[in-house]
Amino acid sequence: MYAAVVTAFDAPPSYREFPAPTPTGSDEVLVDVLASGLHPRVRSQASGSHYTSTDELPLIPGVDGVGRTRDGKLRYFVLFDTAVGAMAEQAVIDLRRSIVLPPDSDPVAVAAGMNPAMSSWIALRQRISFAPGQSVLILGATGSSGKLAIQVAKHLGAGRVVAAGRNPGKLATLTGFGADETVSLSGSPEEAADRLGQAAADVDVVIDYLWGAMTAAAMRAIVTQRSDRGKPLSWIEIGSMSGPEAEIPSAALRAARLQIVGSGQGSVPTRDILAELPALAAEIARGTFTVDARPVPLRDVETAWKDADNDQRIVITPN
Ligand SMILES: NC(=O)c1ccc[n+]([C@@H]2O[C@H](COP(=O)([O-])OP(=O)(O)OC[C@H]3O[C@@H](n4cnc5c(N)ncnc54)[C@H](OP(=O)(O)O)[C@@H]3O)[C@@H](O)[C@H]2O)c1
Repeated sequence: MYAAVVTAFDAPPSYREFPAPTPTGSDEVLVDVLASGLHPRVRSQASGSHYTSTDELPLIPGVDGVGRTRDGKLRYFVLFDTAVGAMAEQAVIDLRRSIVLPPDSDPVAVAAGMNPAMSSWIALRQRISFAPGQSVLILGATGSSGKLAIQVAKHLGAGRVVAAGRNPGKLATLTGFGADETVSLSGSPEEAADRLGQAAADVDVVIDYLWGAMTAAAMRAIVTQRSDRGKPLSWIEIGSMSGPEAEIPSAALRAARLQIVGSGQGSVPTRDILAELPALAAEIARGTFTVDARPVPLRDVETAWKDADNDQRIVITPN
């Protein structure tokens, strides 16, 4: 079969032949892959920098996707951490980590949307007690995950959603995704945090795709400008676009009723992630959320990798 093959962690995958994988366990089957998303998680897998990475090479990237089984059914699947991923003509999936999709589902939309939508869906449903009517601030809302977080939060009953991002052009589009207000993160973290303090100091939940210096400044501003510091504030760390580490002020944890939790592979047990897949896939398949996706054929995977435009989620499709 043909596949996207990584042979060095500092180079993009190339399109070449690779032995097709064979099912070994009783729950495993071979699927024809129809779509697999090029998520930040996949980029970090291919560069060997994800926290689950090993030094095994060559590897085929791709952590999830949509495939067709021999019986003609469409399935969304999530792979185990593996060196033989989904960006190939075929992949071995575990039926227990996959769900059957309605036959008229758009494989590209599902493959594009599941990973970014899952980030906020699981965070709000599994990591905190989110109640309808609560207000949400999304830090780093201009990406695929952020745009879906606006829609997921509203779908799950959020009262007010404030979307914050640094890219002015993309920020201006976010009310179209359901944001009630947008806040620019341009300038220094302290300048951006001032604006956040004015617009979002009283939110109930922060969904954080940024971390780094931006989060440290934002947390300080929000905690100190809160009108009721006894009101619970749940800060859910999901991504680290602004930096892997943040200097969290100790006073923030003492001076306000702040809880910081993370949401991702590990902090949410696999069985709980899998349990959320059917409901989320059903919403995406039914078109509840706007998913910006761009299909790219497998043979062009190397060019797709070098494309830095993150406005649409690239989805690798068969040739
Ligand atoms: N834990 C989970 O379950 C989970 C699931 C999915 C994603 N994630 C993580 O969430 C993060 C976002 O993912 P994504 O799918 O939204 O990625 P994406 O579609 O590539 O978008 C990334 C966004 O982040 C913005 N950005 C980058 N650096 C920034 C900074 N310093 N300050 C403000 N904005 C910045 C980019 O804006 P520009 O246009 O300005 O570059 C872009 O809009 C990644 O770290 C990803 O690994 C985690």
